[in-house]
Amino acid sequence: MQMRLDKFLSDSMEISRQDAKKLLSKGQVWVDGTVVKKGDIKIGDDSIVKVSGKRIEYREFVYIMLNKPAGVVSATDDKNDVTVTDLVKKDYPKRNLFPAGRLDKTSTGFVLLTDDGVFAHDILAPKKHVPKEYIVTLDAPVNDEIIEKFNSGVTLADGTLLKSAVLEATDNPLVVKVVLKQGVYHQIKRMFGVFDIGVNGLHRTHIGGVELDKCLSAGEYRELTQQELEKIYSQTGAN
Ligand code: URA
Repeated sequence: MQMRLDKFLSDSMEISRQDAKKLLSKGQVWVDGTVVKKGDIKIGDDSIVKVSGKRIEYREFVYIMLNKPAGVVSATDDKNDVTVTDLVKKDYPKRNLFPAGRLDKTSTGFVLLTDDGVFAHDILAPKKHVPKEYIVTLDAPVNDEIIEKFNSGVTLADGTLLKSAVLEATDNPLVVKVVLKQGVYHQIKRMFGVFDIGVNGLHRTHIGGVELDKCLSAGEYRELTQQELEKIYSQTGAN
């Protein structure tokens, strides 16, 4: 990678080019041990850039784990509602983040936000779709026949035949665990609708085997670790 120093600073520190230039002119930027005041020099992969003594690493993309609250829409912008990107944008003002997979407005839990289109495509593409796990609160209990139907593939009211899904009972007869490997609009609500069961609550707990961090309250977020990213990516086999 060869990149202008001012672009490097602006991208990796989430600041404007103007602010990057100010840091440079104040003599706060060091490249490979030397103060650099001009933004147009080119730096490479092995250049060591420090600002006020702190090493700055270049990051092409970011990957964020958000605990979506109810009432927030899974979109990049919306005329009426707060969006998932609104919740994080103060920390990432220069990034074009979008949700890699949606949750309904009333649903809560794990939404992955990124600006890496290839990654998002890879984890959502029908042939590679990573498993997503939900805790679902129902208005009636399930029985073995419904569990078996989820396993063999539910046919929705409009005739769509879905892939096999996992439905597991929990200690509470009105709370179940569901694991999906596809993302059809309102999928879980429609699947239970086939059996005349209503969904009162839907919370996504896992994406690609990575659990939503229990330290994150509704509306809070953090970046995924490299290990978590690799785990999600490792689930993108044909399935
Ligand atoms: N299925 C639904 O019906 N809603 C969601 O938000 C996610 C899966």
